Amino acid sequence: MEKLWSGRFKEKTETVVENFTSSLSFDIRLWRYDIEGSAAHVKMLGKQKIIPKKDVELILHGLEEIKREILEGRFRFYKNLEDIHMNIEHALIKKIGPVGGKLHTARSRNDQVALDLRLYLRDEISDIVKLIKGFQKVIVSVAGKHIDTVMPGYTHLQKAQPVLLAHHLLAYFEMLERDKERFEDCLKRVNVLPLGSAALAGTTLPIDRKYTAHLLKFPKISENSMDAVSDRDFVIEFISASGILMVHLSRLSEEIIIWNNDQFGFIELPDAFTTGSSIMPQKKNPDVLELIRGKSGRVFGHLTAILTVMKGLPLAYNRDLQEDKEPSFDTVDTIKASLQVLTEMMPKVRFNKEVMRKASEKGYLTATDLAEYLVRKGMPFRDAHRVTGELVRYCIDKNKVMSDLRLKEFRQFSKLIGEDIVHHISVQTSVDEKKSFGGTSKKLVLARIKKIRIKG
Ligand code: ARG
Repeated sequence: MEKLWSGRFKEKTETVVENFTSSLSFDIRLWRYDIEGSAAHVKMLGKQKIIPKKDVELILHGLEEIKREILEGRFRFYKNLEDIHMNIEHALIKKIGPVGGKLHTARSRNDQVALDLRLYLRDEISDIVKLIKGFQKVIVSVAGKHIDTVMPGYTHLQKAQPVLLAHHLLAYFEMLERDKERFEDCLKRVNVLPLGSAALAGTTLPIDRKYTAHLLKFPKISENSMDAVSDRDFVIEFISASGILMVHLSRLSEEIIIWNNDQFGFIELPDAFTTGSSIMPQKKNPDVLELIRGKSGRVFGHLTAILTVMKGLPLAYNRDLQEDKEPSFDTVDTIKASLQVLTEMMPKVRFNKEVMRKASEKGYLTATDLAEYLVRKGMPFRDAHRVTGELVRYCIDKNKVMSDLRLKEFRQFSKLIGEDIVHHISVQTSVDEKKSFGGTSKKLVLARIKKIRIKG
């Protein structure tokens, strides 16, 4: 296959080099964007009279046919034509003759590939934002069903204070809200037209970049041709936002795995979202969640990869930049799949409300409430903390829970304690009274859910 750039070469490219340099196996994913970008470019060339209108029509027609062939699986790809851009251009010339060679006027693959990747990520980001919103909706709806489910809240994975399951779940809603904002913000910097930068310096031909931007719906045009062809900070940003999203999905998965462990027994996973063991017949494993946790590692790896690719590159384009695509594509696939599977699974998780409540009743989770009770009676917090600690020690030694104690026993620790103490150490009161903004009281959690619904 004759290369489109073969003019200045005497020797044929070695096969090993062709194989090594080819990116077709992965950048084939960009074909749709490559055609879209080329169509806009050629229309601009026509409008600017850089090429005659009739040639524009021929090229557009050729591109349309190529599109149809690819969609119908009839297009023949050649690995030794390096990449998707060369494949499409080559096919165009073969189809419509030398006039097809006019398409690449005032363009380089350097600005072309930057354009394609931006078009691709722009589409994917809008899909990803939709998926995040869908998952958020599911979380809010599950939370809405558990506005009365009390469970232990943890620090150091030790029981700490009682919380509402709804509050716990909504913590993930908030994380996802920031993730969504990060993607939306990243989109602003993805959504910039690089085309027209040509190889690195711009072109002598009278192109109209504003017109191309208008055709491709870019609100902004890159200001510096060297920057436009050589930076990939929009990729770094995208993978970084994805990495943070995966941290959140992985943490949620880890929690569900723990809750699913029968020593916790807080939930039951739907059969359809678990897998069995090849040797132990009794097993029902949370593999989906483990995979999300595991896959977060690949996304972090992609972030490290793209940062490392970029860090030593002199301006402007270097072939190293071809290494931007696989990390981007795999990141897109990984986060979309993770969001999809969690969104489907979440509504089908069964929460064992009774087990959760019982777990919050064991372990002196209302000790802080007792200390705050003493504070309200005038005791300095540090003293209240010590007194409550002594009382907990006493209960542990006597193998009692706080609600087993009689008033007399309470008063051994502080004369400030009165009849009303019973009310203040109940798990329910503990939750109900967390009325500081952002706290777990039912009223506040309901208000948050209502506000989210109105926004959504
Ligand atoms: N396949 C290349 C890439 O992905 C396209 C750009 C090639 N440009 C060049 N000057 N060799 O980056």
